[in-house]
Amino acid sequence: MSARAQATPLPYPRFWATVGRRPARRRPGVVDDGEWAPGERPLRIVVVGKGGTGKSVVSGTMARVLGRLGRPVLALDTDTMPGLAQSLGTKAPPTPPLAEAVEKAEGGCWRLRKGIGPVRAVQRFSTVAPDGVRVLEVGDNPTSGVQSVTPSSQAFYQVIHGLPEAKSFRTWTMIGDHPAGPRQTAHDWAPYADTLLVVAEPTWKSALTARRLAALAKARGTATLLVATKVCGRRDADRVAEIVGLPVSAAIPADEAVVASDRLGVALIDHAPSCPAVQAIEGLVDSLISGTIHPVTDQ
Ligand SMILES: Nc1ncnc2c1ncn2[C@@H]1O[C@H](COP(=O)(O)OP(=O)(O)OP(=O)(O)O)[C@@H](O)[C@H]1O
Ligand SMILES: [Mg+2]
Repeated sequence: MSARAQATPLPYPRFWATVGRRPARRRPGVVDDGEWAPGERPLRIVVVGKGGTGKSVVSGTMARVLGRLGRPVLALDTDTMPGLAQSLGTKAPPTPPLAEAVEKAEGGCWRLRKGIGPVRAVQRFSTVAPDGVRVLEVGDNPTSGVQSVTPSSQAFYQVIHGLPEAKSFRTWTMIGDHPAGPRQTAHDWAPYADTLLVVAEPTWKSALTARRLAALAKARGTATLLVATKVCGRRDADRVAEIVGLPVSAAIPADEAVVASDRLGVALIDHAPSCPAVQAIEGLVDSLISGTIHPVTDQ
């Protein structure tokens, strides 16, 4: 019997129940291992790390590269601050798109409106970025602030918890971009992801945050992939590996093109499609697809 068939339905996501307690465990059977031809297994990744390490550049560029390879890709932006949209080469919606998907239920909590399940919510409220990448955002509304972010983020949480078992998205690659730090990882904001891609710069603060995230991944039973960013040579990557205590699976060089694309407000892959950083990210995607690098499952 396949892992998918064995997986028992899990209870309705209890966001607040995870706060202050042990981190929620990864769901079993996110992607069924047994049924994929070599190289066909969809990637299910969430990119995490300290603030400003390059999470959005990595996740957005990976999504575009995979879109170009013809994969159906859903990019999931958990960050209310803009980041992923620019790295994908699209515009973040002006208001949180999922705000229309929820209503207040008895007892004052938010629930998805009748007739809107996770699949329909993605179909209706995601947008399409270049290379056919679909993007679903928690979103932000600078004018009404928390009043509109709360229902939208509750809706987002409920939607992503329906994605692992959504048959219509079975073949879809999913790439999440988390805000800085460990909070979203601890509180299960990427139940679709079987791999935590931990990004770290060669600095102590960044690498120590990565170490904490890797420990959290271990506690949740999620595989970890360590990616060193903004590196100037082999020694920088070795330093990241040493502090975090994991092997570095890919090293993305410090690249002026990334800074320049950010200044211009355009996606790196559009601004400098063959720059060293894009090449490194393409190499990472290739290795993940071909299975030549393996996330660490037993740290
Ligand atoms: N490989 C790189 N070389 C040079 N600069 C980089 C590289 N990767 C990212 N940067 C720069 O670092 C900054 C942060 O990048 P990015 O927004 O992707 O990080 P982030 O981790 O998503 O940040 P946040 O925590 O705010 O969401 C940007 O100014 C970007 O241009
Ligand atoms: Mg970001």
